[in-house]
Amino acid sequence: MMDLQQLQTRVRALLEERNAVLLAHYYQTQDIQQASDHLGDSLELALQASKTDADIIVFAGVDFMAETAKLVNPEKMVLHPNTRAQCPMASMVDPVALKRIKEKSPDVPVVAYVNTSAAVKAESDICCTSANSVEVVKSLDAERIIFVPDSNLGLYVSRMLPEVDVIPWPGFCHVHQNIKVEDVLSLQELYPAAETLIHPEATPMVLTLADFVGSTRGIAKRVVDSSADEFIIGTEEGLVHHLKGLRPDAEFYVVPPGLCPNMKRITLLDIYKSLESLETPVELDRELIARARRPVDLMLKIKRRA
Ligand code: 13P
Ligand code: SF4
Repeated sequence: MMDLQQLQTRVRALLEERNAVLLAHYYQTQDIQQASDHLGDSLELALQASKTDADIIVFAGVDFMAETAKLVNPEKMVLHPNTRAQCPMASMVDPVALKRIKEKSPDVPVVAYVNTSAAVKAESDICCTSANSVEVVKSLDAERIIFVPDSNLGLYVSRMLPEVDVIPWPGFCHVHQNIKVEDVLSLQELYPAAETLIHPEATPMVLTLADFVGSTRGIAKRVVDSSADEFIIGTEEGLVHHLKGLRPDAEFYVVPPGLCPNMKRITLLDIYKSLESLETPVELDRELIARARRPVDLMLKIKRRA
């Protein structure tokens, strides 16, 4: 039986042997984060996937992230080490229903959060992540938009851009939706000097309690820039490994539930096996890639905020 360090060494050796790159989201376990070539939020990882010259991309993240990597670099083999790692919010939009809605409102652009399937992206005008949602919607210069699938992020954009009529799809992330006002308030009472940093997938009421609202990378940037030395974190606990590396002097308190079971389905052993067997490659048909890539490419052209 290999110990963790041996497994990390074997993964690194196989990555080199196969000329592969390991991209890992901040919500992955610490051992995967440490073994990765690039650790980041969904926007950063999509950018890294688009410009890598490795032969193989191994994606440690949920399904839509691996699919997005394939869309932006379709000639590469993209391996998803555990296909059961799926984001439930991404499957909350039915592409057929979205198509029909578009037919009824052909002049209203559809903005798709990257947390969507390729089939939904193909029906959308532009994609966004939580790091660039406001900039993306602003770039459209539209009076009204349809925003899929995260209603909380859609409502956040609507508050940031009151001049735009944002029609949100009624989807949500169960991890962030379940962050309770009472739990944030309790932590704030326990740690009155702490700054409260929350991801925009949380509910509008929870966001009113935040000192800062941002994507995972936005939260990391805030932690570096802040003079506080205690932080209440309203997102998935995996990010805290990275935050501790950035600010070893600081304390972090994660608001429950703080765990995405879907992200955590991928293990370092899955990654090792995936590199050995070259399973499971993301397969998308060419016509779908062509249609779904466009809104992602458009998003990648927009300058990020954090
Ligand atoms: P980020 O884009 O902030 O990394 O978030 C992705 C995600 O799935 C949040 O739940
Ligand atoms: Fe999906 Fe939520 Fe998990 Fe992010 S935290 S991958 S949105 S279920």
